[in-house]
Amino acid sequence: MSFISTKSNGLVSVEDLAVKELAQKYGTPLYIYSKAQLEEHLNAYNAASSDVEHLVCYAVKANSNIAILQLMASLGTGFDIVSGGELARVIEAGGDPKKVVYSGVAKTFSEIEYALDQQILCFNVESPAELERINSIAISKKVKAPISIRVNPDVDAGTHPYISTGLKNNKFGVPVETAFELYKHAATLEGVKVIGIDCHIGSQLTSLTPFVDALDRILALVDRLAAEGIQLEHIDIGGGLGVVYKDEVPPAVSDYLKVVKSKLAGRKLKLICEPGRSMVANAGVLVTRCEYLKQGEVCNFCIVDAAMNDMIRPSLYSAWMRIEEADHNLDRPENVYNVVGPICETGDFLGKERSLKVQEGDFLVMHGAGAYGFAMSSNYNSRPRAAELMVEGGKVHVIRDRESVSDLWRNEHKL
Ligand code: LLP
Repeated sequence: MSFISTKSNGLVSVEDLAVKELAQKYGTPLYIYSKAQLEEHLNAYNAASSDVEHLVCYAVKANSNIAILQLMASLGTGFDIVSGGELARVIEAGGDPKKVVYSGVAKTFSEIEYALDQQILCFNVESPAELERINSIAISKKVKAPISIRVNPDVDAGTHPYISTGLKNNKFGVPVETAFELYKHAATLEGVKVIGIDCHIGSQLTSLTPFVDALDRILALVDRLAAEGIQLEHIDIGGGLGVVYKDEVPPAVSDYLKVVKSKLAGRKLKLICEPGRSMVANAGVLVTRCEYLKQGEVCNFCIVDAAMNDMIRPSLYSAWMRIEEADHNLDRPENVYNVVGPICETGDFLGKERSLKVQEGDFLVMHGAGAYGFAMSSNYNSRPRAAELMVEGGKVHVIRDRESVSDLWRNEHKL
């Protein structure tokens, strides 16, 4: 069910509240999330894996607002983190470090120490050098670091090259061919305890085939390890399930996990997954106001107050994100526009060739903005970052204040 929709009154609404009214009250650019939608997405993962031992570890990078992390934590969710900062956020939000898996290719000494002190569930080790570093830090602390090796299965996720991570030429993980030897070596180390295996092959996958191919390769390795006497407790299948932005037909969470569970049947492996986008993307919108309409020689521009600093996906990945009018009652001539922001870059656009009924002062809604939206925002062009709201039925929670202009130089110092 979608909690973000156009109601019969013609107004795009998040749960019971009209986006237009929220934009008038809180200003734009504005991120708005639906609490019920977030809960529904999380429930889909838990329901589909309720018959097996499992842990959903939400990928914090997709949207790290502490209210969102707090909501997830209150529902028992674990977290996939990629930095000490993300771990600190999780803890601040009330998350349990014992349900945290730690991915990322460049874990620093202090990040590893911090994660060990917090007794996280597992380090997803991405290289032999990282394994040695974790081992020596754990020895010096007289503890054993729980680890998985992130295995790079060399499968083509069929997604945008910037968000594909499971190919040989990507920086992530350890090649499946050498992972066996690395596991054998890890098993001899005093400072680590081998507990699992991990893989994440990319993001916005719309087919099950690459997931299945990756799983087959990983499970073959699990069997080889078992024959060597290395028994694993869990398998972490990463994230990556795609969502609908336009006309994609991604597998449902239930179908995806059904296939995964059938592959794992008969094995004593706890299932961990790390969904990010499929939890939050379609639980959030970005609202922006049309500042000007401008007729170019070859196209029309709808110039809005949100920019690539607020939402970089179109600029960075040529991502197509749906944009519609916040109020469908307004009688405006329909035109085709490139929807562009105020930033001084030609790459600063939110959408191209969009048919819109819009005039100066109207609000537009960008859908699918809950994932990798605010989380990837910046202050480029000295633009304060947007406010974020969470709607719960007819109630609104301000979960991030709009930055003020003086926030922009808060950490800067004059000579
Ligand atoms: N686990 C690991 C180790 C990851 O690197 C990622 C995402 C996830 C889980 C979550 O994947 P998801 O379920 O969200 O696909 N900024 C890009 C997406 C980058 C994804 C990076 N890794 C975008 O906006 O499309």
